[in-house]
Amino acid sequence: MNMPLLHRDWMERIGGAMQFVEVTSPAQVRARRLVDAPLSGHWDQADTPEPRLHRIHAYPAKFPAFLTGRALAYGAAQGMRIKRVGDVFCGCGTVAHEARRAGLAFWGCDVNPVATLIARTKSTPCSGTAVRKRSDAIVQAMRTASRRHGLTEPAARRLRRWFAPKSFEDLARLRNAIKAEVPARSKYRPVFYCAFSAILKSCSRWQQRAIKPALDPDKMPQDVRKAFLEQVELMAQAFDEAGDAAAPGPMPDIWHANVLTVTAPAQPVDLIVTSPPYVTSYEYADLHQLSSLWLGYAQDYRELRIGSIGSSQHALNFRRGHAALNHIGRQIVFTLYSQDSAAAEAVANYFLDMQRVAERCLEFLSTKGMAMFVIGNTYYRGVEIDNAAHLTEALLQAGFRSVRAARRRISNKCATPYRDGVGRYTRSRTPRPLYAEEFVLIAHI
Ligand SMILES: C[S@@+](CC[C@H](N)C(=O)[O-])C[C@H]1O[C@@H](n2cnc3c(N)ncnc32)[C@H](O)[C@@H]1O
Repeated sequence: MNMPLLHRDWMERIGGAMQFVEVTSPAQVRARRLVDAPLSGHWDQADTPEPRLHRIHAYPAKFPAFLTGRALAYGAAQGMRIKRVGDVFCGCGTVAHEARRAGLAFWGCDVNPVATLIARTKSTPCSGTAVRKRSDAIVQAMRTASRRHGLTEPAARRLRRWFAPKSFEDLARLRNAIKAEVPARSKYRPVFYCAFSAILKSCSRWQQRAIKPALDPDKMPQDVRKAFLEQVELMAQAFDEAGDAAAPGPMPDIWHANVLTVTAPAQPVDLIVTSPPYVTSYEYADLHQLSSLWLGYAQDYRELRIGSIGSSQHALNFRRGHAALNHIGRQIVFTLYSQDSAAAEAVANYFLDMQRVAERCLEFLSTKGMAMFVIGNTYYRGVEIDNAAHLTEALLQAGFRSVRAARRRISNKCATPYRDGVGRYTRSRTPRPLYAEEFVLIAHI
């Protein structure tokens, strides 16, 4: 049996910053070799602040932008000529924007329409001046715009829970003014929809910084017009900072689609850089319900849970499904089953989807391509959900030749490691600790 190796070739070149273990067979993963994956400074911290475009819209579990550059540097050190980058869980377009900044082509998909709205906005070359000019026209038009919301009755009922009557009316006017002032085919339409989406939580009674939908009856929502103008200014500055010259790559190719069923990219990608969702962690459909309903992506936001990997609402025929689980997946699911059968089914479902993701990544890559995953382990009812080991086994079974693993410290977490019931940071000890480390897995063909 091949034993995992601590690779030193690349490490020597960049002064010891980079170490990893390498596994080449499922048996090595089952022997828990990933616990030897070293903490590596290479993946820990950015040297420079993130471009402002990455902060134009909040997004749960956003990827640290600098990791794209580190993955490109790693690929270059391996002698790869990377022309096309992919991200199968592209979220708010962090990798897409970084690839474009590096002058590379990009292909990506995400099942959440709010994610692809933000990703396309970040990938659109715009001038701050043009954005400000249009926003002045929109705010002007808002005064006389219709207050008809045009939503289905259930969608309107749902939204009224979150907004005071005046905010609701102002938002209807604002959305109608955007539609009137910015043609549907204009590249600025998604930009202003993104600005609209970004202010919804602060203009509502949604508990700020909660990772689960929760009403805050004491909250003073922001004024819609003021919040919109501030948001547009933030975005205009971010576009100016990015500048067309700083983003020389072709327009990223971003699909609102499920990675499990999306048509493969017309041209294979050389490098996939991605961070998968976790099981029963974020319900993206629930978290983005204000945006999805206002922008007409769904009549009932729960529709958007369908196909979302890691959603606890994702149905599975457990009896039939579990037979396809890989070894690590089966062990974890059976351990969890005695504690909580519903959670075990959700985890089984997640693992089966991730096994398919591993196969799809191989299908999307060029013959000498490489896929990098940033993934953490979680705990559920005291059982370690070893996402990293499960994915490593899945990658090897899908046909990748080897997987190299390092660990990275998650440095953007605040001083306390605990979250309260709705997911806000808290100083008191709770059963929901945050995770301080995650794995960087690099799968080679
Ligand atoms: C950890 S986030 C990725 C964040 C991203 N790297 C960024 O910087 O924004 C995981 C993403 O996977 C997406 N996702 C979940 N199921 C999916 C599926 N079946 N196909 C494509 N994307 C999916 C979620 O919508 C979410 O955006």
